[in-house]
Amino acid sequence: MQYEGVTVVDHPLIQHKLTIMRNKETSTKGFRTLLREISHLLCYEATRDLELTTIEIETPLTKMEAPTLSGKKLVFVPILRAGMGLLEGMLDLVPSARVAHIGLYRDHTTLEAIEYYFKAPEDIQERLVIVLDPMLATANSAIAAIDRLKRRGSFNLRFVCLLAAPEGLQKLHKVHPDVRIYCAAVDQKLNEKGYIVPGLGDAGDRMYGTK
Ligand code: PRP
Ligand code: URA
Repeated sequence: MQYEGVTVVDHPLIQHKLTIMRNKETSTKGFRTLLREISHLLCYEATRDLELTTIEIETPLTKMEAPTLSGKKLVFVPILRAGMGLLEGMLDLVPSARVAHIGLYRDHTTLEAIEYYFKAPEDIQERLVIVLDPMLATANSAIAAIDRLKRRGSFNLRFVCLLAAPEGLQKLHKVHPDVRIYCAAVDQKLNEKGYIVPGLGDAGDRMYGTK
C-alpha cells in the first residue's frame, strides 16, 4: 500500500536490522546500536535532494570544480526521549548540523502530547528542519512538534521515523501535507492503548532500559 507524502525506506539491511530490534529478547545495548545504524540509512534517503553548489579545489593532480553542500546547515530535531536514538547516527553523516530539542510525552489516558521542553537555534526558520522520532503512532507527538516548529517560523520541514502506524501516517499527512515523511516500515495498526502492532514496544523504554 502507498501512502501520500511518505517514503518507505525498505532497504534489505534496514529490514534485517529492524527485525532484530522488534525481538523482545534484544538487549538495550543492541537496540540502541541498531537504531543508530538504521538512522544512517534513513538519513541518506531523507537528505537525498539537498542542494549542491561547486567550489574550486586542487587535487594532487589538477584543479577542479567540485560539488559541496550549499545553503545554511540543516537542523535535526529529536523528540525526547526516543528521538535521541536517531540523532547520533544523523550527526555521523551531517556533523555540522544544528540540533533543536523538543521534549514531549504522551498522556497515557488521552494519548495527547504534553510539551515539557523546547530549545532551538535562533535562525531555525532559515534552515531545513528534520524532525526525528522512531515511532509514529497516533501522530499526536509529531503534529505537536511540527506545530511548535511552525510557530517558530519553520516551513521547510521533514519527518523521519522508524516505524509508523497507518493511522499516524494518514493523520500527519492530513494536518501537515507539506511535511514529507520517511519511515522504515508501516505496521498493521494501533492497539487500544495507542501502541503500534506488531511494533517493537515502547521505544524510549527499550532504548534506556526503563522497563
Ligand atoms: C513515544 C515515541 C513518540 C510517541 C509516539 O514517546 O517516542 O514520541 O510515543 O506516539 P504518538 O504518535 O501516539 O504521539 P513517549 O510519549 O512514550 O515518550 P518517551 O519517548 O519519553 O518515552
Ligand atoms: N510510542 C512507542 O514508543 N511505541 C509505540 O508503539 C507507540 C508509541
